[in-house]
Amino acid sequence: MRVFSVFTAWSAILSCIAVVYAQSGPDPIGTIHEGHVPADLYGSDYPYPWPVKLFKFYNQRQKLTMAFMDIPAKKSHQNNKTAVLLHGGNFCGVTWFDTARHLSAAGYRVILPDDIGFCKSSKPQGYSYNVQQQALNIHSLLNALGIDGVIVIGHSMGGMIAARYGLMYPNNVQQLILVDPLGLEDWVAKGVPYLPIDATYESQVVQNFTTLQAYEEASYFHNATWKPAYDTWVEMLADIYAGNYGSEYAYVMSLVTDALLSQPIIYHLPLLQTRTYLMVGENDITALGKAWSPPDVAAKLGHYNKLGPAAAAMIPNSTFHMFPGLGHAPFLQDPEAFYDVLFAWLD
Ligand SMILES: *[C@@H]1O[C@H](CO)[C@@H](O)[C@H](O)[C@H]1NC(C)=O
Ligand SMILES: *[C@@H]1O[C@H](CO)[C@@H](O)[C@H](O)[C@H]1NC(C)=O
Ligand SMILES: *[C@@H]1O[C@H](CO)[C@@H](O)[C@H](O)[C@H]1NC(C)=O
Ligand SMILES: *[C@@H]1O[C@H](CO)[C@@H](O)[C@H](O)[C@H]1NC(C)=O
Repeated sequence: MRVFSVFTAWSAILSCIAVVYAQSGPDPIGTIHEGHVPADLYGSDYPYPWPVKLFKFYNQRQKLTMAFMDIPAKKSHQNNKTAVLLHGGNFCGVTWFDTARHLSAAGYRVILPDDIGFCKSSKPQGYSYNVQQQALNIHSLLNALGIDGVIVIGHSMGGMIAARYGLMYPNNVQQLILVDPLGLEDWVAKGVPYLPIDATYESQVVQNFTTLQAYEEASYFHNATWKPAYDTWVEMLADIYAGNYGSEYAYVMSLVTDALLSQPIIYHLPLLQTRTYLMVGENDITALGKAWSPPDVAAKLGHYNKLGPAAAAMIPNSTFHMFPGLGHAPFLQDPEAFYDVLFAWLD
């Protein structure tokens, strides 16, 4: 049994109950903390509908805290399957709230993590946010919870992490479901210029409700009408930028942007051995770097209506669906259409 004693003093800070899970294997283990947590965690006081638990672990020579929710399956429908839902870069685990509710009602246990750097998780400043690291962190959490077989569902950045998870841990993945994932094209190869991390930081640190809403409306809900129901997801982010961790969060976003730009998943899709399901919105025009690219480059980027089918054709065992008229977040824009496809795909 390996336990990191450094967690002892550290856990006292939050006065949580620590449950230690012993695991063998190469991945870092940590402790799961259940019980009371402060409403404001690492700059996010957005109310989460289920208890927030903390996974405390250690890598890259530092102590990390990953916040997550663990929603039990509805007893009468329990199918002994677990779904882990990975959020996008401008979202949090809680953005999957309604999907989690549906999955739980259908008999799935649902794990909703906030990635390291995001939302209610810690925001290390000297950290490599490469996609493999984020996938490994999710794997460490699942290991600590004693979960081995999972259905992995990832949206946007979370879709990139999910695909990477499928490449790294094929034997742990029962089904891999990608929802408008990033990385279906190599932005840099298409001409996106390098933007220094400090310049990205300067553009991030001034984010507020107005700038975030404008970006999401243009990129995520292209050709659609903004609905008041989307406001809450923008406020959730704007509050982090405006809060105690605003500057740290902005810097994390610039490190993450740098990592994502240099790690498009497209070249590795042919290596996926997992049963993979890809869904995209026909009107999704999201692309990293579009905002600082010359117009001729920007015009080439983010055509999910073409990128989606091309990516699906590269995946050895894949099923593809394109939502007509929807954008980057079909589960928010037309939940019923999204659930129809999702539940038809789940075994
Ligand atoms: C789930 O697991 C429980 C306990 O092992 C078992 O009784 C039940 O039959 C299983 N349900 C399904 C659908 O496999
Ligand atoms: C949000 O940020 C933009 C750009 O920095 C600024 O012009 C605007 O006044 C800000 N809005 C609010 C409500 O703070
Ligand atoms: C959707 O946007 C495209 C530009 O990306 C435009 O050509 C098209 O006419 C729009 N469609 C609708 C229905 O607004
Ligand atoms: C795709 O995956 C399913 C489920 O694992 C399997 O039954 C099927 O044989 C696979 N098809 C191909 C072409 O590999």
